Amino acid sequence: MFGLRAFALAFSILALGAPLRAEEAIEEMANKDVKLGDKVAPRDEKAVWNKKYDRKMFLFGKKPNVFFASQLDKLTPGKLLLPAEGEGRNAVYAAKQKWKVDAFDVSDVAKDKALKFAEEEKVAINYFVSDASIVDLKPNDYDAVAVIFFQPQDNEATSKFFTKLKNSVKPGGSIIVEGFAKSHLKLKTRFGPKDLSCMYDKKFLKGNFKDWKISLIKERKTVLDEGMHDGKAIVIDFVAEKPNEK
Ligand SMILES: C[S@@+](CC[C@H](N)C(=O)[O-])C[C@H]1O[C@@H](n2cnc3c(N)ncnc32)[C@H](O)[C@@H]1O
Repeated sequence: MFGLRAFALAFSILALGAPLRAEEAIEEMANKDVKLGDKVAPRDEKAVWNKKYDRKMFLFGKKPNVFFASQLDKLTPGKLLLPAEGEGRNAVYAAKQKWKVDAFDVSDVAKDKALKFAEEEKVAINYFVSDASIVDLKPNDYDAVAVIFFQPQDNEATSKFFTKLKNSVKPGGSIIVEGFAKSHLKLKTRFGPKDLSCMYDKKFLKGNFKDWKISLIKERKTVLDEGMHDGKAIVIDFVAEKPNEK
């Protein structure tokens, strides 16, 4: 009897528990010596994320982010940009909904996984490797841009990045953002940034989109269930539209 139970426990750890624990260890390694609220020294994002993504499992799962999918479904398919797209979960979903998808990320390992995933799912996506701080985007090119859980090293860098994204959206086009709120830090989760200076609050987002029509801005408590994002979180959901030219 005991033998059977021990076998079942060992099996469940191997089948379910072990991969998650490995991911937690990786996350802890990446955040080593970082205390909550610390101003974090610049990291080599490419090296950090390539190491995290260098495994068979999908760190954030294969299903799209729930908020992203719910907002995208309200729009007419056109041309979409997904910055810092990781392993392609949102890109593949969008392509299946008939969007023409451009995606990029600093991690080439993520790019390879995303392209293989898209091929398996029989959809086409255009995916390139670039750091967000130097990405080159055409003006007035996209019907929508979606920034899902990507927060550059601090709010100043994020504002510069948003300016570039705003310029790349066509008049009448949309931006969709979901990211961690400043208040998320108090939850002391294993996942998510640990540095207050890169977190969002409503004032920050409103300030960056003063000249756009903000159709949704909401800070909310939630329970995330997307791979490493696994548990209680406080996020900000945001949607805004670029004014049509007069
Ligand atoms: C939390 S993951 C989110 C991935 C994806 N957006 C998703 O929701 O599944 C953050 C992503 O940002 C990417 N990233 C980090 N720093 C970057 C940078 N400076 N430029 C471009 N991508 C970056 C990472 O490689 C990683 O894929």
